[in-house]
Amino acid sequence: MASSSCLYAQISSILLIFSIQLFLVVYADGGTNFNNNFDITWGGGRGKITGDILTLSLDRVSGSGFQSKKEYLFGRIDMQMKLVPGNSAGTVTAYYLSSQGASHDEIDFEFLGNLTGEPYTLHTNVYTQGKGEREQQFRMWFDPTSHFHTYSIIWTPRTILFLVDETPIREFKNMEAMGVPFPKHQPVRLYSSLWNADEWATRGGLVKTDWSKAPFTASYRNFNVKSGAFLRRNMQVHSQKLKWVRDNHMIYNYCTDNKRFQHGFPPECTASGSH
Ligand SMILES: *[C@@H]1O[C@H](CO)[C@@H](O)[C@H](O)[C@H]1NC(C)=O
Repeated sequence: MASSSCLYAQISSILLIFSIQLFLVVYADGGTNFNNNFDITWGGGRGKITGDILTLSLDRVSGSGFQSKKEYLFGRIDMQMKLVPGNSAGTVTAYYLSSQGASHDEIDFEFLGNLTGEPYTLHTNVYTQGKGEREQQFRMWFDPTSHFHTYSIIWTPRTILFLVDETPIREFKNMEAMGVPFPKHQPVRLYSSLWNADEWATRGGLVKTDWSKAPFTASYRNFNVKSGAFLRRNMQVHSQKLKWVRDNHMIYNYCTDNKRFQHGFPPECTASGSH
């Protein structure tokens, strides 16, 4: 008994040291320096890096956007964002991973603005080989415009997790065994943009962007990436929290949209417990 628990202690301390080293190695993969990690790709000066903060802005003439210099295949990506405050109706702040080409893979966070005091919609989607149509939407349990909050994607060969301040809001498991394609071959870049979408984002164009409030600005800081394989302990899904979000903060789920899928739901929707 004593010797086996001693052995156990030895093994776990070896594992601990190994884990810490692994953590340091992957952590070094992406710092918080925006200049080293990103290119501002469009917007004619409306995207700016000032010290540790990156800002995107949108006015009547143009929005703006940036993308990561590197590509990633699996990993964990964290970004702190503070969304357009006040009357942001019609604006969309998109933050997503995407590969290139017609049969691309994509993992999306999109923040749909609203009138002053009305809630944002957090829209999520997963595309595999060019096909999306897996929308889930949420309300946040805080005002996303008053402070920075952390939006994360954990992507492994087995699952994709969307997290808000460490709370998992969505999981898309690998269900290839059920014939559902899963993104795992195409390296992606991280993209973000702020653009005008008042044609569709505001209840089908009902509310128009109020340009007298322009420029609209969203801020970013503390980007972090750990690409590739990483620690298993990061993968513990807090299923109770996920359930709490789904029960209290989910406002749309394609897997329960009977009108849209009158001829049957996509196979992942019927997989037990995953959607
Ligand atoms: C804006 O707020 C209204 C009222 O709460 C809500 O019905 C609508 O869905 C919101 N719009 C967006 C784009 O989130």
